[in-house]
Amino acid sequence: MIGRLNHVAIAVPDLQAAADQYRNALGAKVGEPQDEPDHGVTVIFIELPNTKIELLYPLGEDSPINGFLEKNPSGGIHHVCYEVDDILAARDHLQATGARVLGSGEPKIGAHGKPVLFLHPKDFNGCLVELEQV
Ligand code: CO
Repeated sequence: MIGRLNHVAIAVPDLQAAADQYRNALGAKVGEPQDEPDHGVTVIFIELPNTKIELLYPLGEDSPINGFLEKNPSGGIHHVCYEVDDILAARDHLQATGARVLGSGEPKIGAHGKPVLFLHPKDFNGCLVELEQV
Protein backbone atom coordinates (compact mmCIF):
# COMPACT_ATOMS: atom_id res chain seq x y z
CA MET A 1 0.00 0.00 0.00
CA ILE A 2 2.65 2.56 0.93
CA GLY A 3 4.78 4.02 -1.79
CA ARG A 4 7.88 6.17 -1.70
CA LEU A 5 9.39 7.83 1.35
CA ASN A 6 8.25 11.40 0.78
CA HIS A 7 10.26 12.98 3.60
CA VAL A 8 11.83 12.58 7.01
CA ALA A 9 10.92 15.42 9.37
CA ILE A 10 13.42 16.68 11.94
CA ALA A 11 12.36 19.02 14.73
CA VAL A 12 15.04 21.65 15.29
CA PRO A 13 15.64 24.19 18.06
CA ASP A 14 17.07 26.81 15.64
CA LEU A 15 15.60 26.76 12.15
CA GLN A 16 18.08 29.12 10.54
CA ALA A 17 21.09 27.34 12.04
CA ALA A 18 19.75 23.98 10.83
CA ALA A 19 19.07 25.34 7.33
CA ASP A 20 22.55 26.88 7.18
CA GLN A 21 24.12 23.59 8.25
CA TYR A 22 22.32 21.62 5.53
CA ARG A 23 23.21 24.29 2.95
CA ASN A 24 26.82 24.93 3.93
CA ALA A 25 28.11 21.82 5.68
CA LEU A 26 26.11 19.20 3.77
CA GLY A 27 25.82 21.11 0.49
CA ALA A 28 22.08 20.46 0.15
CA LYS A 29 19.45 22.38 -1.80
CA VAL A 30 17.55 24.22 0.94
CA GLY A 31 14.17 25.90 0.43
CA GLU A 32 12.62 28.95 2.06
CA PRO A 33 10.78 28.86 5.41
CA GLN A 34 7.02 28.33 5.08
CA ASP A 35 4.55 28.93 7.89
CA GLU A 36 1.91 26.20 8.26
CA PRO A 37 -0.54 27.65 10.78
CA ASP A 38 -2.93 24.67 10.51
CA HIS A 39 -0.14 22.39 11.71
CA GLY A 40 1.54 24.82 14.16
CA VAL A 41 4.88 24.64 12.40
CA THR A 42 7.30 26.57 10.24
CA VAL A 43 8.98 24.23 7.78
CA ILE A 44 11.98 24.31 5.49
CA PHE A 45 12.22 21.60 2.87
CA ILE A 46 15.57 20.25 1.80
CA GLU A 47 15.65 18.45 -1.52
CA LEU A 48 17.77 15.32 -1.71
CA PRO A 49 18.12 13.25 -4.88
CA ASN A 50 15.80 10.51 -3.58
CA THR A 51 13.64 12.20 -0.91
CA LYS A 52 13.25 15.33 1.17
CA ILE A 53 14.11 16.43 4.68
CA GLU A 54 11.55 18.62 6.43
CA LEU A 55 13.01 20.85 9.12
CA LEU A 56 10.26 21.63 11.66
CA TYR A 57 10.15 24.56 14.02
CA PRO A 58 7.26 25.49 16.35
CA LEU A 59 4.78 28.13 15.20
CA GLY A 60 2.64 29.46 18.05
CA GLU A 61 2.09 28.49 21.69
CA ASP A 62 0.03 25.39 20.87
CA SER A 63 2.50 23.93 18.40
CA PRO A 64 2.88 20.16 18.69
CA ILE A 65 6.63 20.73 18.28
CA ASN A 66 6.97 22.60 21.59
CA GLY A 67 6.52 19.47 23.70
CA PHE A 68 8.80 17.47 21.42
CA LEU A 69 11.61 20.02 21.78
CA GLU A 70 11.11 20.13 25.56
CA LYS A 71 11.82 16.39 25.63
CA ASN A 72 14.50 16.60 22.94
CA PRO A 73 16.19 20.00 23.40
CA SER A 74 18.77 19.46 20.69
CA GLY A 75 16.10 18.32 18.20
CA GLY A 76 15.37 14.92 16.74
CA ILE A 77 13.53 12.89 14.13
CA HIS A 78 9.86 13.78 14.49
CA HIS A 79 8.12 11.73 11.79
CA VAL A 80 8.48 9.90 8.51
CA CYS A 81 6.11 10.51 5.61
CA TYR A 82 5.07 7.75 3.23
CA GLU A 83 3.20 8.32 -0.01
CA VAL A 84 -0.13 6.66 -0.72
CA ASP A 85 -2.35 6.77 -3.79
CA ASP A 86 -5.66 7.01 -1.95
CA ILE A 87 -5.51 8.42 1.56
CA LEU A 88 -9.08 7.57 2.53
CA ALA A 89 -8.68 3.97 1.43
CA ALA A 90 -5.37 3.81 3.32
CA ARG A 91 -6.98 5.28 6.44
CA ASP A 92 -9.88 2.84 6.35
CA HIS A 93 -7.56 -0.11 5.85
CA LEU A 94 -5.26 0.98 8.71
CA GLN A 95 -8.14 1.61 11.09
CA ALA A 96 -9.47 -1.85 10.27
CA THR A 97 -6.09 -3.25 11.37
CA GLY A 98 -6.37 -1.37 14.69
CA ALA A 99 -4.08 1.57 13.93
CA ARG A 100 -5.15 4.90 15.37
CA VAL A 101 -5.37 8.01 13.20
CA LEU A 102 -4.60 11.25 15.06
CA GLY A 103 -7.02 14.16 15.28
CA SER A 104 -10.45 14.01 13.67
CA GLY A 105 -9.40 11.24 11.30
CA GLU A 106 -10.10 13.49 8.33
CA PRO A 107 -7.14 14.43 6.11
CA LYS A 108 -5.74 17.95 6.39
CA ILE A 109 -3.89 19.77 3.67
CA GLY A 110 -0.16 19.43 4.36
CA ALA A 111 2.91 21.46 3.52
CA HIS A 112 2.85 20.36 -0.14
CA GLY A 113 -0.81 21.29 -0.64
CA LYS A 114 -1.79 17.61 -0.58
CA PRO A 115 -3.98 15.68 1.89
CA VAL A 116 -2.15 14.22 4.89
CA LEU A 117 -2.95 12.13 7.97
CA PHE A 118 -0.88 11.14 10.98
CA LEU A 119 -0.86 7.70 12.61
CA HIS A 120 -0.30 7.17 16.32
CA PRO A 121 3.38 6.52 17.10
CA LYS A 122 2.50 3.89 19.71
CA ASP A 123 0.98 1.80 16.91
CA PHE A 124 4.13 2.11 14.74
CA ASN A 125 7.09 1.17 16.91
CA GLY A 126 7.37 4.60 18.48
CA CYS A 127 7.54 6.41 15.15
CA LEU A 128 4.99 9.06 14.17
CA VAL A 129 3.93 8.24 10.60
CA GLU A 130 2.51 10.77 8.14
CA LEU A 131 0.66 9.59 5.05
CA GLU A 132 0.48 11.90 2.06
CA GLN A 133 -1.70 11.34 -0.96
CA VAL A 134 0.28 11.99 -4.12
CO1 CO B 1 5.75 15.94 7.26
